[in-house]
Amino acid sequence: MKVVITGVVSFLVFILHSSLFAQLPATNTSADIYLQLQKLNVLGSVLYIAAHPDDENNALLPYLAKEKQYRTGYLSLTRGDGGQNLLGSEQGVELGMIRTQELLAARRIDGAEQFFSRAYEFGFSKNSAEALRTWDKEKILSDVVWVIRQFQPDVIITRFPTDARAGHGHHSASAILANEAFKAAADPAKFPEQFNYGVKPWQAKRILWNTFNFGNANTTSEDQLKIDIGGFNPLLGKSYGEIGGEARSMHKSQGEGRPRRKGQVLEYFTTTGGDTPHTSLMDHIAIDWKRLPGGEKVQQMINTVIDHFNIQQPVLSVPALVKIYEAIEALPAGNWRNKKLQEVQDIIEACAGLSVEAITQQPFAVQGGNLAISFAVNDRSDLHPILTHIVLQSSTSARQQELMAVKQHDKVFWLPAQLDTTVQYVLDNNKNVSLNYSFTLSDREPVSQPYWLQYPKTEGMFDVRDQLLIGKAENDPAFTAIFSIQIAGKQFAVKRPIQYKYTDPAKGELYQPLAILPGIELNYMSDNFISLNNSPAKAEIHIKSNIADTATYRVQQQFSANWSSDQKAFDYSVKQSRDAYVSGSFNPLSKENNVKEEIGVTARKGNLLYDSYTKTIAYDHIPTITYFPRAKANLVKLDIQIIGKRIGYIAGAGDMIPQALTQMGYEVVLLTDKDITAANLQAFDAIVTGVRAYNMYDYLTAKYEVLIHYVQNGGNLIVQYNRNNQTTSGRAKIGPYAFTINSGSRVTEENATVHFLLPDHPALNYPNKITVRDFEGWVQERSTYQAEQADSHYEALLGMNDTGEKESNGSLLIAKYGKGNFVYASLVFFRQLPAGVPGAYRLMANLIALPKNN
Ligand SMILES: *[C@@H]1O[C@H](CO)[C@@H](O)[C@H](O)[C@H]1NC(C)=O
Ligand SMILES: *[C@@H]1O[C@H](CO)[C@@H](O)[C@H](O)[C@H]1NC(C)=O
Ligand SMILES: *[C@@H]1O[C@H](CO)[C@@H](O)[C@H](O)[C@H]1NC(C)=O
Ligand SMILES: *[C@@H]1O[C@H](CO)[C@@H](O)[C@H](O)[C@H]1NC(C)=O
Ligand SMILES: *[C@@H]1O[C@H](CO)[C@@H](O)[C@H](O)[C@H]1NC(C)=O
Ligand SMILES: *[C@@H]1O[C@H](CO)[C@@H](O)[C@H](O)[C@H]1NC(C)=O
Ligand SMILES: *[C@@H]1O[C@H](CO)[C@@H](O)[C@H](O)[C@H]1NC(C)=O
Ligand SMILES: *[C@@H]1O[C@H](CO)[C@@H](O)[C@H](O)[C@H]1NC(C)=O
Ligand SMILES: *[C@@H]1O[C@H](CO)[C@@H](O)[C@H](O)[C@H]1NC(C)=O
Repeated sequence: MKVVITGVVSFLVFILHSSLFAQLPATNTSADIYLQLQKLNVLGSVLYIAAHPDDENNALLPYLAKEKQYRTGYLSLTRGDGGQNLLGSEQGVELGMIRTQELLAARRIDGAEQFFSRAYEFGFSKNSAEALRTWDKEKILSDVVWVIRQFQPDVIITRFPTDARAGHGHHSASAILANEAFKAAADPAKFPEQFNYGVKPWQAKRILWNTFNFGNANTTSEDQLKIDIGGFNPLLGKSYGEIGGEARSMHKSQGEGRPRRKGQVLEYFTTTGGDTPHTSLMDHIAIDWKRLPGGEKVQQMINTVIDHFNIQQPVLSVPALVKIYEAIEALPAGNWRNKKLQEVQDIIEACAGLSVEAITQQPFAVQGGNLAISFAVNDRSDLHPILTHIVLQSSTSARQQELMAVKQHDKVFWLPAQLDTTVQYVLDNNKNVSLNYSFTLSDREPVSQPYWLQYPKTEGMFDVRDQLLIGKAENDPAFTAIFSIQIAGKQFAVKRPIQYKYTDPAKGELYQPLAILPGIELNYMSDNFISLNNSPAKAEIHIKSNIADTATYRVQQQFSANWSSDQKAFDYSVKQSRDAYVSGSFNPLSKENNVKEEIGVTARKGNLLYDSYTKTIAYDHIPTITYFPRAKANLVKLDIQIIGKRIGYIAGAGDMIPQALTQMGYEVVLLTDKDITAANLQAFDAIVTGVRAYNMYDYLTAKYEVLIHYVQNGGNLIVQYNRNNQTTSGRAKIGPYAFTINSGSRVTEENATVHFLLPDHPALNYPNKITVRDFEGWVQERSTYQAEQADSHYEALLGMNDTGEKESNGSLLIAKYGKGNFVYASLVFFRQLPAGVPGAYRLMANLIALPKNN
């Protein structure tokens, strides 16, 4: 074992959070307050349900939330993990976290609330049956039922129909689930275990399908309920079409920037359950205070406040609002009572110009490390509220116990020492009151892992074991401060998350969530460690400590008896290095060829266990995301012959193929426009283009002659999938003979049977004999954007199909041309090589080795 110490005095390099995210406090202008006052009188609610972030109708949501002033929610079954990413290289759960935050950013604009189920977006799905099978229909149905029982919507709206007109299988599945849940939520026999968590059966009045006209598909008709949602709201200074454009433009990872629409916007609704509305979504539903016994009085009180509202001095409404608060408090417990109490309190705070913050100057806190918090309060009124005490709360029950334990040991730090609870802080008009408090986190403080990533997911679902977390868009803040403040004689609990606040010289004052990091981080330096033909696989582990401590940790790697390693277990001393790289090797013991396994690494001290590292994702339009992937890598025993050495790689939309080729033993040179000359290309045994390269770069079409000449002279050109034969400005020229690309033709079942159509073709035999075993263990899918209508010069090597579809021969086409070969590969090498799939390496090696003709 070798420990490399990087730097004499090692210190943490913290990623500076430079994203422009504005969790900037929303405005509280008199117009905002007036709108909120009106909303107080509305007790109606709508839940919109669809499958993905960006499926929601972005102009309809603000219309419902701000014009009709209903409580409005959007339940997106998935977090959009399987979509594209126009912003960066994040895929899968990382993209899901970005799109979660994009939805929340959109909701801050349109005023709706956001919910999710446990469904994972596993990629394109051709029909609802496949989607429901992969998701585990009963579990996702229970999630939709749970959200309905919690939210208690009067009306449910689906974006999609239950049939093929929905397009994507996830879309129709979302409508199937919503319609089943509409009934199941009301049925006491369905998911009765949920009743242990405080919900009751809930019957929504009706469920509607918000029909659409997407140009190619028009499902609207004049006999449906029709509403113009394009109206202008002078309190907002905008129409709902404009707000919708702003909200939709938050879906930046999807390239969904949209104009602010003015003018009429017609929406149509057709009933799929419950009774049919004829004039408004809420026909025959009481949506005012009359729906609560004893509520009529509150309605009158609110009307009086609205009638006397003074836009110059909203503070004058505070005493009457406090009376309203007390009147609502006296009503029977329930959803609406709780919701309206919070709304009244928000309005009181806004009218009083009350600013309450709990902030820290550190972007994160570390398990066992220190956290310094400033509590800052300023009231901009002559009400003189009284701050009586502050309680610090952790989001986790573990933490609550910790606090209790500390309390028992007589260090009652959750009532900060500096705050003498017998002294009352009277807030003077526009005077800061600020209190500092700092404490040491427990070394067991849970890290800020998004709750749906805490346990490994299955193919179609996240594993969430706490029922109360299901449905939530994101974690509760790690720490919350609850300020007890007396306003106009009434005690209010004002809750604020502890946030990281800083001022960026270019961007101004910014807020970010406070992340809790693990004490020790571990990571492998590569996703795959490859043993080539029984040679040792070199592996490197990165270990670092986030706090200065003198502890020693026992580091252990987890792998099977098919391997041996000189670094199975070793000690790591923080004192020696806070940041260490440990390298060693793995020797294969298995007699079997071409196998892979996943390995992991942990560090222990006593019964504390560490097994992950910190990753942050920062974009300007969303808060910085922090999560903790588990330290893992693939150990691959690859038995492979390689012919040819030098490969020229023309990068496409971003893939990890060059790294994989390097690990296979090739020398890879990345080529751009200017490098693609006849003279340069001569030096390469093969040229490989990255995914979608021809769609992205016009220059590849301009270099068609050079590339084809290279093939003619004996080179092998391997083109990975492109979406179609279009460049940004015209028609792409790809192969030496014509073929078309069918963007809808895919084989999404990663275990689809593969038929060898030309078993004697060199690509399946030389230098590696390819067998069906080489198609085992593939991930996610087989082939995408397949070739069709190929010229007769092409040979189709493989046949495969999804269940219920005809076999297609467009996944791998090869044509001899001159002395060389042209290959079009729809097969998803770009997914298999980074996943360490041995058979994919071997087939790629054969394509690179295709023999010269004559
Ligand atoms: C005032 O702004 C805060 C954000 O700082 C927001 O949560 C609250 O809803 C606003 N209040 C009103 C009445 O608009
Ligand atoms: C969509 O179809 C409905 C019913 O056939 C028709 O009234 C409407 O004009 C169509 N909309 C457009 C934009 O074609
Ligand atoms: C009041 O506190 C704020 C931070 O909440 C600070 O920016 C400001 O400078 C303080 N004002 C005074 C007069 O101390
Ligand atoms: C509280 O902490 C902040 C940030 O560290 C510091 O700027 C300020 O001076 C402190 N205030 C008091 C009253 O100690
Ligand atoms: C070793 O590899 C063989 C063949 O892949 C496999 O069947 C066996 O389960 C592996 N042994 C262990 C301990 O994982
Ligand atoms: C390019 O694609 C279009 C349809 O998108 C098709 O009609 C045409 O035949 C294709 N041409 C070639 C050379 O592949
Ligand atoms: C692929 O895997 C699924 C799920 O495990 C299974 O139901 C199906 O039969 C498999 N297909 C083939 C062709 O083996
Ligand atoms: C498609 O492929 C599967 C195996 O992947 C096979 O079982 C099935 O019979 C094939 N054909 C059809 C029409 O489903
Ligand atoms: C692929 O299959 C189609 C339909 O069976 C056939 O017409 C075509 O010739 C095949 N293509 C090649 C390149 O073999």
